[in-house]
Amino acid sequence: MAFVQEPLPFDPGALEPYGMSAKTLEFHYGKHHKAYVDNLNKLTQDTELADKSLEDVIRITYGDAAKVGIFNNAAQVWNHTFFWNSLKPGGGAPTGDVAARINSAFGSYDEFKSQFKNAAATQFGSGWAWLVLEAGTLKVTKTPNAENPLVHGQVPLLTLDVWEHAYYLDYQNRRPDFIDNFLNQLVNWDFVAKNLAAA
Ligand code: FE2
Repeated sequence: MAFVQEPLPFDPGALEPYGMSAKTLEFHYGKHHKAYVDNLNKLTQDTELADKSLEDVIRITYGDAAKVGIFNNAAQVWNHTFFWNSLKPGGGAPTGDVAARINSAFGSYDEFKSQFKNAAATQFGSGWAWLVLEAGTLKVTKTPNAENPLVHGQVPLLTLDVWEHAYYLDYQNRRPDFIDNFLNQLVNWDFVAKNLAAA
């Protein structure tokens, strides 16, 4: 069975008033994410990996030099779907239980934002910034290229794509502005709450 590209959880123009244009979504979802899905299907066609779940393909191929292309495409398919779900038009600060967990882990919401921004800004080259649950504790991390928390025994809660293709059309080289915009008006804390509840 072929791997499929999940539909975007919002209208492609829905984030436009919040600093992520429909043009960016057209390329990021419609070209980049789609290419990872197409490549993964080509690379796994007629192999036993074609019948595995996406998560299993990621875990099985991680660290296998002969399967690095499959790992990269599988992880990028998964990371992007997780990223779209991490976005919400007009997101802001967390509330309720999630806010309490953030305050308990980082001291304050501002300190969380500062750590997340630092991770996202200092990931050299392509990669991802994450909020994860590791051994019951909330933690900010970053990963290079396609790597993700699933291969490190962590539970991913939230992510930001910091590949240049994620922000170049709207922010050109200004990655810090793209990160600020995400933290100020795009974070889907409902998704974080759902992931925490399921962890
Ligand atoms: Fe991306």
